[in-house]
Amino acid sequence: MTARTDADEAVQAEDRHGAHNYDPLRVVLCRGEGVWVRDVEGRRYYDALSAYSAMNFGHRHPRLVRAATEQLERLTLTSRAFHNDQLGPFCAELAAFCGSDRVLPMNTGAEAVETAIKLARKWGYERKGVAPDRAEIVVCAGNFHGRTTTIVGFSDDPLARTGFGPFAPGFVRVPYGDANALRSAVGENTVAFLVEPIQGEAGVVIPPAGYLAAARSICDEAGVLLVADEVQSGLGRAGRRFACDHEHVRPDLYVLGKALGGGILPVSAVVGIDEVLGVLHPGEHGSTFGGSPLACAVGREVLRLLADSRLVHESAALGDAAAARLRAAAHPSVREVRQRGLWLGIDLADGALPARRASERLMERGVLAKDTHETTLRIAPPLTTTAAELDWALERLDEVLAGLL
Ligand SMILES: Cc1ncc(COP(=O)(O)O)c(C=O)c1O
Repeated sequence: MTARTDADEAVQAEDRHGAHNYDPLRVVLCRGEGVWVRDVEGRRYYDALSAYSAMNFGHRHPRLVRAATEQLERLTLTSRAFHNDQLGPFCAELAAFCGSDRVLPMNTGAEAVETAIKLARKWGYERKGVAPDRAEIVVCAGNFHGRTTTIVGFSDDPLARTGFGPFAPGFVRVPYGDANALRSAVGENTVAFLVEPIQGEAGVVIPPAGYLAAARSICDEAGVLLVADEVQSGLGRAGRRFACDHEHVRPDLYVLGKALGGGILPVSAVVGIDEVLGVLHPGEHGSTFGGSPLACAVGREVLRLLADSRLVHESAALGDAAAARLRAAAHPSVREVRQRGLWLGIDLADGALPARRASERLMERGVLAKDTHETTLRIAPPLTTTAAELDWALERLDEVLAGLL
């Protein structure tokens, strides 16, 4: 009989006592530094997922750890019943970073999306004059905005929604990337168009050039808010501060999360213009943890890291080179490579092994990546990776792709 390892125990405890709402790769991590993580058996892996872009700055970035530690030693949570000395500066700095007016801090991405929905509806009733309870929000096919009942209600992914109804009305779904469909869907009750400028969970799906700019014009003409969910695409991941920057589009509301918390704690926010955030009054919305001094201290350091534009530019150049290399390799197992910044979606060809098997083979070679929708591999290393580290991972990726057919 083989001895049970720490890894076995950890997996079995999770299997026995945790809900089975995930199906993780069988690796039990216990340490991380920069782009590297280690498992309980001492093996080292390159993190090519970055916790779905929450780890844009790598594991335990010294400046983020310092900011968190200093704040931990002073004050962690006040609730919004009182002011704290971090929230005001955080709001001012994040609003300036987004070129907008106001910030409403929350915790998870889904909460920020819910917040944007509430803001858009209230704005619609109070400013646009939509009849009570008639507000509509246009969303996209293939969207992923989180896991609350309202949000999964307008998803078209059967796994995300089946068994969780009844769902909230007031959402209209249009094909992603189709400006004409958006134009036709917008009516007198439409208050917002909620869109991911790049669809991350769908497999790094990039809309046709000009789509976001067209959406901006359609929204302007119809008096509809453009709400960009940049929870995954924002804060440097797509090779710009925001994925919307690729088309010089400024949304009325940014929805941010993931990397805003530096991989340390959940920090999300809605950032937007006075006219919209101004519709909320005391008691109408809130969160016990949102805007905590700890969250704000970490978020402020994240913004300081992003203020150095080299991180974003250099990671984008690495992403361009990685995509060029993968395309040049022309692996028969690969149907398409999509890329923006250091963010790649690799669609596997018909007949190739499932993307899950590819992730497992990558793991065996020391690279952690994640499959999505059975046929797509997603590669999103920390933006802080060096070219040499990324090359190392790409060599392993080449080996795996070469053996998938
Ligand atoms: C675009 C987008 N919005 C919202 C979310 C939900 O964020 P969270 O898991 O923090 O609730 C995600 C998560 O993957 C996302 O990719």
